[in-house]
Amino acid sequence: MKEIKKSVYWVGKVDWEIREFHGSEYSTHRGTTYNSYIIEDEKTALIDTVWSPYGSEFVRNLGKQISLRKIDYVVANHAEIDHSGALGELMDQIPDTPIYCTKNGVESLMGHFHRDWNFVPVETGDKLSLGKKEIVFIEAPMLHWPDSMFCYLTEQNILFSNDAFGQHLSTELLYNDLVDQAELFQECIKYYANILTPFSGQVEKKIDEFKSLNLPLDMICPSHGVIWRDNPLQIVDKYLEWSKSYRKDQITIVYDTMWNGTRNMAEAIAQGIKSVDDKVAVKLFNISHTDKNDVVTEVFQSKALLVGSPTINRGILSAVAGFMEQIRGLKFKQKKASAFGTYGWSGESVDMINNGLKDAGFELIESGIRSAWNPDEKSLKECMEFGKVIANQTGSEKPK
Ligand code: FEO
Repeated sequence: MKEIKKSVYWVGKVDWEIREFHGSEYSTHRGTTYNSYIIEDEKTALIDTVWSPYGSEFVRNLGKQISLRKIDYVVANHAEIDHSGALGELMDQIPDTPIYCTKNGVESLMGHFHRDWNFVPVETGDKLSLGKKEIVFIEAPMLHWPDSMFCYLTEQNILFSNDAFGQHLSTELLYNDLVDQAELFQECIKYYANILTPFSGQVEKKIDEFKSLNLPLDMICPSHGVIWRDNPLQIVDKYLEWSKSYRKDQITIVYDTMWNGTRNMAEAIAQGIKSVDDKVAVKLFNISHTDKNDVVTEVFQSKALLVGSPTINRGILSAVAGFMEQIRGLKFKQKKASAFGTYGWSGESVDMINNGLKDAGFELIESGIRSAWNPDEKSLKECMEFGKVIANQTGSEKPK
């Protein structure tokens, strides 16, 4: 147990080893933490637990530090099993202890565990007295699942925000001011880009709602990564900035290639962009060789996205298809896009990619460019001209 404020303790797990999260949907290059907290007062509350594989270890360690029978209340801010994973083993030992969660939380916990525990569904504004301190519940649907909620501890002025404001960063240092800031914010923006982008509207509303409560705030304790004790509002302000269709002066080019024809197109397009605008950051990624979540993070920061694939079997390469599916669900806003690619016979790839970009909410700025077979000098010049058009059509955009 690590005391983070008087009578409030971190009792989580640092997972240095994990490199893939949500199956293989999210890369965790720097590991993660599952943060769980104990609050002691006249009554004792446990907030969240850890991922299932560490459930036994968590319950065993917790039992060495406090008598599990001393836990009067369990708060489950979110039912996803990286936070509820130890509940099965814990509740075997304290089966009657009430579990406070949202109504959706009850459904989700029952769906995961198939156990009819002593659930107490709560809504925004409901309070739980621990003695001198109170826990105030704040529903946070879609941040990032329908069951998610925050809770706030009075007297100590702590917001337990669950996934929101978290990052996948393993560290023993615990606090935001002690870790490398570049690593921290890289993991924060990756987390926002890959998980919270579709819910940006709700992010803005929830932050406005929380700010309007005028609650004093000394700490934000998320369920992954560091605790924000130094200027905790800095991450709230970042979320507000990211929630407003965030983009920098960057154009990202994502492609896959069979015999380097589409790669040569990508590079010629980049040259064309740079010949018009030497300030814009142009970044190229072969999606079959690059971590998909890192690429999404780059797209999140871009004002425009160009996607390329040769045509194969009247379609596109599978790595590009996977990427298109990924961005379809993320609902990026106010970003421009177009497609490119080589072909030998039928040449459907550009139209297919353009349709996918449109479905994903991008504004198509050109009909795209195709090149037959291996692009020759003339084709590469056309790609450069295409790059110039892209630069001109995105150049007047003032980056945020
Ligand atoms: Fe960290 Fe939605 O679980």
